[in-house]
Amino acid sequence: MPERRPFIRLPTDVYPVNYGLCLKPDLIDFTFEGKLEAVVEVIQATNQIVMNCADIDIITASFAPEGGEGEEINATGFNYQNEDEKVTLSFPSALQKGSGTLKIDFVGELNDKMKGFYRSKYASPAGEIRYAAVTQFEATDARRAFPCWDEPAIKATFDIILIVPKDRVALSNMNVIDQKPYPDDDSLVEVKFATTPIMSTYLVAFVIGEYDFVESQSADGITVRVYTPIGKAEQGKFALEVATKTLPFYKDYFSVPYPLPKIDLIAIADFAAGAMENWGLVTYRETALLIDPKNSCSSSRQWVALVVGHELAHQWFGNLVTMEWWTHLWLNEGFASWIEYLCVDHCFPEYDIWTQFVSADYTRALDLDALDNSHPIEDFRKGMNAYLLKFQHKNASTEDLWYCLEQASGKPIAAVMGSWTKQMGFPIIEVDQEQQGNDRILKISQKKFCASGPYNGEDCPSWMVPISICTSEDPSCTKLEVLLEIPETTITIHNIQPDQWVKINPGTVGFYRIQYSSSMLESLLPGIRDLTLLPVDRLGLQNDLFSLSRAGMISTVEVLKLMEAFVNEPNYTVWSDLSCNLGVLSSLLSHTDFHEEIQEFIRDLFTPIGLKLGWDSNQGEGHLDALLRGLVLGKLGKAGHKPTLDEARRRFKDHVEGKQILSADLRSPVYLTVLKHGDSATLDTMLKLHKQADMQEEKNRIERVLGAISAPDLIQKVLTFALSEEVRPQDTVSVIGGVAGSSKHGRKAAWKFVKDNWQELHNRYQGGFLISRLIKLSVDGFAIDKIAAEVKSFFESHHAPAAERTVQQCCENILLNAAWLKRDADDIHQYLLQRKGAPV
Ligand code: BES
Ligand code: ZN
Repeated sequence: MPERRPFIRLPTDVYPVNYGLCLKPDLIDFTFEGKLEAVVEVIQATNQIVMNCADIDIITASFAPEGGEGEEINATGFNYQNEDEKVTLSFPSALQKGSGTLKIDFVGELNDKMKGFYRSKYASPAGEIRYAAVTQFEATDARRAFPCWDEPAIKATFDIILIVPKDRVALSNMNVIDQKPYPDDDSLVEVKFATTPIMSTYLVAFVIGEYDFVESQSADGITVRVYTPIGKAEQGKFALEVATKTLPFYKDYFSVPYPLPKIDLIAIADFAAGAMENWGLVTYRETALLIDPKNSCSSSRQWVALVVGHELAHQWFGNLVTMEWWTHLWLNEGFASWIEYLCVDHCFPEYDIWTQFVSADYTRALDLDALDNSHPIEDFRKGMNAYLLKFQHKNASTEDLWYCLEQASGKPIAAVMGSWTKQMGFPIIEVDQEQQGNDRILKISQKKFCASGPYNGEDCPSWMVPISICTSEDPSCTKLEVLLEIPETTITIHNIQPDQWVKINPGTVGFYRIQYSSSMLESLLPGIRDLTLLPVDRLGLQNDLFSLSRAGMISTVEVLKLMEAFVNEPNYTVWSDLSCNLGVLSSLLSHTDFHEEIQEFIRDLFTPIGLKLGWDSNQGEGHLDALLRGLVLGKLGKAGHKPTLDEARRRFKDHVEGKQILSADLRSPVYLTVLKHGDSATLDTMLKLHKQADMQEEKNRIERVLGAISAPDLIQKVLTFALSEEVRPQDTVSVIGGVAGSSKHGRKAAWKFVKDNWQELHNRYQGGFLISRLIKLSVDGFAIDKIAAEVKSFFESHHAPAAERTVQQCCENILLNAAWLKRDADDIHQYLLQRKGAPV
């Protein structure tokens, strides 16, 4: 391994106050010319300026002291430190303390790597291939568009001018204040934007391309536009509605107005992330913004709402108040990932989105609202408001946030949260009980939870854990609350009958796993069957048990038995979480010769709910019914449930022949089912549908299930397709991932494909996070020790610095899977055989 270079921040002797930036992209040659005129402040006399700069050629640079005092000085040396993405401009004499203007002329390339200032390919309505020029700067790629001080705490204002073909749309963070013909070329116009507020470089953005838009005014007077591909303005209406509803909601929630006069949301064809919160010009993948009333499914709608809610939250949390350094990035993402749910709950209460939060996000973030239940909302809002006001247009750290929340609530937030953010991991809470007369004595202890089991070493860390408790008397109400500050304690619940059950963590908000004694667990099972436990609690119980089985703390057979208690389950999210875990188990058992037995288990478990739902939506059904139907039919079809397979084939045929178009919500499950049990003709039909699809959503829908095809030669064909021109570069990853996640053969073939095409894949994604996702999707499912070693050694000789941690995590996961399989395979097999023999 090469030595890691020490990272050094930019020197602080010169800093920017205002960037005057003029860019002239060439959409044919994929180059751009730039002129920077930055007002800077020299703190200390120096004859060097160090800035960030990458893949940019500087032509000239000069410094002019303010007010004409002293001569303009031309830089005589541009010393690029390519590895560090910096340039040092050297001047023949010292720049004196005080203000001045730094002028730099430069040129760069509109790259095809989806970062910095890059080109994005699209087809004109007539089918002609064209390119837009767009930006993605977070985290550190503004330096690829112009030389700058590319650190989040070095904020400045921006005056941006874009010189573009006059038939193109040109957008930036602010509104246009002037537009005039470009003197040297009458096919071009010069578009000038208003001065931005003081802001970080990673939030600057520009887009030059062909777009339509829909526009509206939010209740608080902000002009909101959603930009779509030409001819698809209609598809922007859903996001427009969400955005116009959300802006006043956040304004009210934060008690701080949105500070810009406009906000644009734009769909970009080639886009690495899901979306990016650039101030006033939020960029999205097409599938995270566009909704077609007929052809978009319910889960897309929900996704668009969440992403819009997420990025708009960043306009305050991230853009107005910015983290001091990238180590505090979680302040941005943690908060936005939480409040996007609050926003969707506000806009679409029928989505029951908070239950979905527990399944989708709970295990990802340590949430502030898990802290206190007495007056959480008011104190929390008060604290947030203080934080935003105190640090607006500035930068903040984790401690700053705790301080503001502590002041607002009068609670020991800093101490409690410190135990969660300063040490890795989270606890497993072990609980046992004893009835004494009318009292229940709970014995509660904490240990660090590791995926391989509880931490056994010395110095086991401990957390300040808010523990809440409910009983069967009122499963939705917290009866008792304590803060567990030590490894072990006892708690007494008074006035409780012996037949009442006790549950820890009602609402599944505390960030820990729970291991109940077997008698306590036993007593909770009826609450699952008769649905008296809340959906989130049914979900949480199942999810805890599943992770305990993977960690070897209970037998997987116990989880299978628990899953069978969900026969009467009506809730989409509960099913979705359970189904996801069963998918993991099914993938694990594809390493064995009794994979078919687990398919049978899946079929048996999902058949009753499948029968109840049927194929067609009933009068009065809503969002969650549609999601549940898609989930269940897909599960049954994939597991080879004959009636589902037959019906899927029939409906697919009608769809392809144009007799009866499948509703958007049925497409994924039907496509998946027919492919899983399909042949080369099925694959060809799907590829044809893919080619014909006009919406990216439909293309993605197909791409994600192609890997379900079973025949080895067809799997190979899918992998080749993944790297073809037909698939957008950001979507290749999900095609390969689909292959890896679908079958034993697919897993091997996908990993081989990644190895064989490593050069191309690495070159495509460079340091981006797509490479991490690709690696995870293609190797995480293995359960063989030898392969962990092979993965490790492959990445020792094929460097992917951005994915270093992912590679380590994958190797750890493979070993965990292998151990799990060794430990439990026989018992699972026995259980599956025995239940087949059992009388119904
Ligand atoms: N700011 C991020 C995107 C980002 C983070 C880009 C780090 C580059 C580096 C954005 O707000 C975000 O979180 N996007 C998510 C989607 C979101 C709804 C969770 C993404 O891109 O996956
Ligand atoms: Zn974000």
